[in-house]
Amino acid sequence: MIRPLGARLHEELGIEVPIVQSGMAGVAVPELVAAVSNAGGLGVMASLRLKPDAVRAAIREVRDATDKPFGVNIWLHDDVRTSPDPASIPDDVVRGSQAVLNEFRPQFDLPTTLERPPAQADLVDAALDVMIDEAIPVFSAGVGIPDADLVERFHQVGTKVVCMVATVEDGIAAVANGADAVIAQGSESGGHRSYGQKHRHENEATGISSLVLAPSMIDAVGTECPVLAAGGVVDARGLAAMTALGADGVLMGTRFVATKESGAAPMWKERLTSGDRTTSLTDGFTGQWARVLSTSFTEAWASSGAEALPGLMQAAAGSDLFGAAKKANDDQLQPLYAGTGVTQMSDVPAAGDLVREMAAEAKAILGQA
Ligand SMILES: Cc1cc2nc3c(=O)[nH]c(=O)nc-3n(C[C@H](O)[C@H](O)[C@H](O)COP(=O)(O)O)c2cc1C
Repeated sequence: MIRPLGARLHEELGIEVPIVQSGMAGVAVPELVAAVSNAGGLGVMASLRLKPDAVRAAIREVRDATDKPFGVNIWLHDDVRTSPDPASIPDDVVRGSQAVLNEFRPQFDLPTTLERPPAQADLVDAALDVMIDEAIPVFSAGVGIPDADLVERFHQVGTKVVCMVATVEDGIAAVANGADAVIAQGSESGGHRSYGQKHRHENEATGISSLVLAPSMIDAVGTECPVLAAGGVVDARGLAAMTALGADGVLMGTRFVATKESGAAPMWKERLTSGDRTTSLTDGFTGQWARVLSTSFTEAWASSGAEALPGLMQAAAGSDLFGAAKKANDDQLQPLYAGTGVTQMSDVPAAGDLVREMAAEAKAILGQA
């Protein structure tokens, strides 16, 4: 018997519609988060690389715009939490990476360089402190599992903890550490792979398809906590299908990038809803594996065989180039994160309408209307 849509998440997180909008840096702005939460889903703000004051200000902005539950997301990856020392990166790795970036720098009149990037500020712990101080409704962990002490600190202030993982083993570990819900991230997903350590090769990083990972996760931890499915879901059919597999809800990233309230550039929204939308995994933009729209940069990076710098040092090394591309609205030299479900998207709806319509249609598909 298929459970009534959203019943378990309503109980666990207090939301009406079992749709979670992913935390997405630069995209999941307070306006999007509030629109999703006000429609009955769970809007999730991104806080990676934000300074503590900015995290607090954004939380307060969301609170001003909704009295419904919302979440705040951050990555807990080992090499992001404690930034690698630039001096520890071998010279040939720095030069190999910079050589590929140098092929593109002249397009924006940027000087070429073979230098290593400066040390990165370590902002994760400070952001976590702000979230706990603000007693946010939901903490969303990605790209790494919260340890039991961190989960306990959130629980003490009444915050629920949801954790996104890409393997059943990580799901079991997250639940053992006290997570209140697990999100199974399938290989279709846009953005970064949700592992706490980097897999060296693309093949190992790719992961398991949602169709296989979600039921495996449900079998492993579904009696202990709700399990949501992520990766490739962009419409009511996806929500109904994941519900039929036993999932308690879905998390969507790519679909929400192309909504009216998203902070993504209009060019990105257009690229997600028309034309060629081939995706590939690359570590050339940030240093961690992520699914993006394939571009001349992802192709040049892959064929170069260059090794990405660790942590987020690759993003730091290329910040001049990727920043200039963003400013110029260039669609080849900045990461346009997208999951494989992108080919089924053709419009840019208001986020609240999307949430309400998806829930109503999924209920009709499941015969629960
Ligand atoms: C633009 C974009 C940014 C993302 N940023 C984050 C992030 O900051 N933190 C995180 O945990 N996951 C992030 N993700 C990954 C999502 O949490 C999720 O795994 C994925 O979007 C689900 O697949 P879908 O894109 O097919 O819906 C991002 C995804 C996208 C598309």
